[in-house]
Amino acid sequence: MSESSDLRIATGCTGLDTMLQGGLVEGYCTILEGSPGTGKTTLGLQFLVEGCQRGEPGLAITFEEFPEQYYENAEQLGWNLREFEAKGLLKIQFSDPITFLEGLQDLDGHVSSLVEEMGARRILVDSVSHFERLTDDAATLRRIETDLVHALKREGLTSILLKENAHVLGGWDKSENRISFIADALVLLRYIELESEVKRGIVVLKMRGSDHDKQIREYIIREKGVQVLDPFQGVAGLFSGSGIRAATA
Ligand SMILES: Nc1ncnc2c1ncn2[C@@H]1O[C@H](COP(=O)(O)OP(=O)(O)OP(=O)(O)O)[C@@H](O)[C@H]1O
Ligand SMILES: [Mg+2]
Repeated sequence: MSESSDLRIATGCTGLDTMLQGGLVEGYCTILEGSPGTGKTTLGLQFLVEGCQRGEPGLAITFEEFPEQYYENAEQLGWNLREFEAKGLLKIQFSDPITFLEGLQDLDGHVSSLVEEMGARRILVDSVSHFERLTDDAATLRRIETDLVHALKREGLTSILLKENAHVLGGWDKSENRISFIADALVLLRYIELESEVKRGIVVLKMRGSDHDKQIREYIIREKGVQVLDPFQGVAGLFSGSGIRAATA
């Protein structure tokens, strides 16, 4: 069993690492929540690619997109995932939530075995919203999500769990959002309407046991992934999805 330590894990996005005061804490479970197309998968892959470049193997579990789609999207971003796979630094697995959880919870399960075989240090789960579709019962869902987070920690993995937010501009899903309470850190990706333009904003809402940046910063997606820019200045109401310039004297 591996305990969380103060060792920081670089996400591959230097701006986000700065917001996190040096990166994710090793062994932490982070929820990366965002609306469709905000770049959740991109930032998740960036985290795994950074690991590959540092010799920290990683695993991507996808319940939605086939690995082929991952390879193609990553190629557009300048990452050759097949090359990392060939070196044993990366594995992209298409699965379903139950098979994945069973394979992780059982010490001899296929996911636990793979983690051990690869010496995996990082994992991306795309996305945990699929667990919400398994049951309508809040208590059952909470147990499933708790089991998931505990199993990831038991394996000593630093994890990024993607979470869908169906609202394109502002708002929160009706789901209880329990997993955000269970997780150690919560990062939001949002579309923000500002002066007839749709921009993207990133904010760290929670980081257990550590200080972090509280500002909402603009980010762009380009080759090599997400790039964090400056905070939005003099704007109010960003969390509603529409920023309004604060009145100037
Ligand atoms: N090479 C690129 N250059 C610039 N922008 C890109 C590039 N690749 C992707 N994007 C942007 O990233 C967006 C999608 O990113 P990504 O698939 O990571 O989002 P997501 O949040 O995972 O989406 P979904 O909710 O559909 O899973 C695209 O809509 C596009 O705007
Ligand atoms: Mg995605």
